[in-house]
Amino acid sequence: MSAPTAPKPTAAGSGRSATERFARKERAGATVDQARVDTLATAALTALHQVIREHGVTYAEYDALKAWLIRVGEDGEWPLFLDVWVEHVVEEVANTDRQGTKGSIEGPYYIPGAPEFRTEATLPMRDDEKGTPFVFQGTVTDLDGSPVEDATVELWHADDDGYYSQFAPGIPEWNLRGTILTGPDGRFAFSTMKPAPYQIPTDGSCGALVAAAGWHPWRPAHLHLKVSAPGRAPITTQLYFEGGEWVENDVAQAVKPELILRPTPAASGTGEEVTYDFALDPAQ
Ligand code: DHB
Ligand code: FE
Repeated sequence: MSAPTAPKPTAAGSGRSATERFARKERAGATVDQARVDTLATAALTALHQVIREHGVTYAEYDALKAWLIRVGEDGEWPLFLDVWVEHVVEEVANTDRQGTKGSIEGPYYIPGAPEFRTEATLPMRDDEKGTPFVFQGTVTDLDGSPVEDATVELWHADDDGYYSQFAPGIPEWNLRGTILTGPDGRFAFSTMKPAPYQIPTDGSCGALVAAAGWHPWRPAHLHLKVSAPGRAPITTQLYFEGGEWVENDVAQAVKPELILRPTPAASGTGEEVTYDFALDPAQ
């Protein structure tokens, strides 16, 4: 049960959590070579100058941009903004040469160190967790199809209200987050609840941009995954549901045709199930 006194989730709350979480992440302090900074910062500024010239940007618009950028920082929404509108291109470039399972964006809500299980697990969830019971299972293989034992399959996803544990108040710490180590046949099976579509927080600066531009704030329902194994290139990806709302129109542009699940009614008679196999590229 969620505590009756739990405050309502807010953009400021998720944004602040996502910003604090990012600051502790291993890549957060990465330094970039001076020549690359010169190249990339010059190219980015030149692209922006071009937009200003091409569209005749006014002082009023320039001031609105400044005010908005200041507010994104105050709201702690830089991780949200970047992961929704920029990360999908970074992912595309990072994974161009990959032959196995396609990647997708990580988003701001990954947390390492979720509870670990071997081969099968029911994700940690509340006694009254809402949603459709859902079994997500498969095999981790190499590119040639041979099963990978001791592969790590990390799964995290939103609840039936579209909220992530540790980023919204009143949800148990590891709710709907878990890790499975595959058995000798490379297999894993998670029992969980199907997630709902996710709305990026609408009450902060990202929401203000969406409203001001007349866009929509929705991502289709999705599972987040990281699959890794010794000697293989780890993959971060997401899986979506065929026919799901917003699959064709994801605000974060992170859907790929190879990442769409087609669940069927579960053999147990309750809920749905689906099998999805992961093929890992060799480590670079
Ligand atoms: C965001 C949230 C997600 O759940 C996701 O997968 C990608 C981005 C966000 O709010 O920025
Ligand atoms: Fe997500």
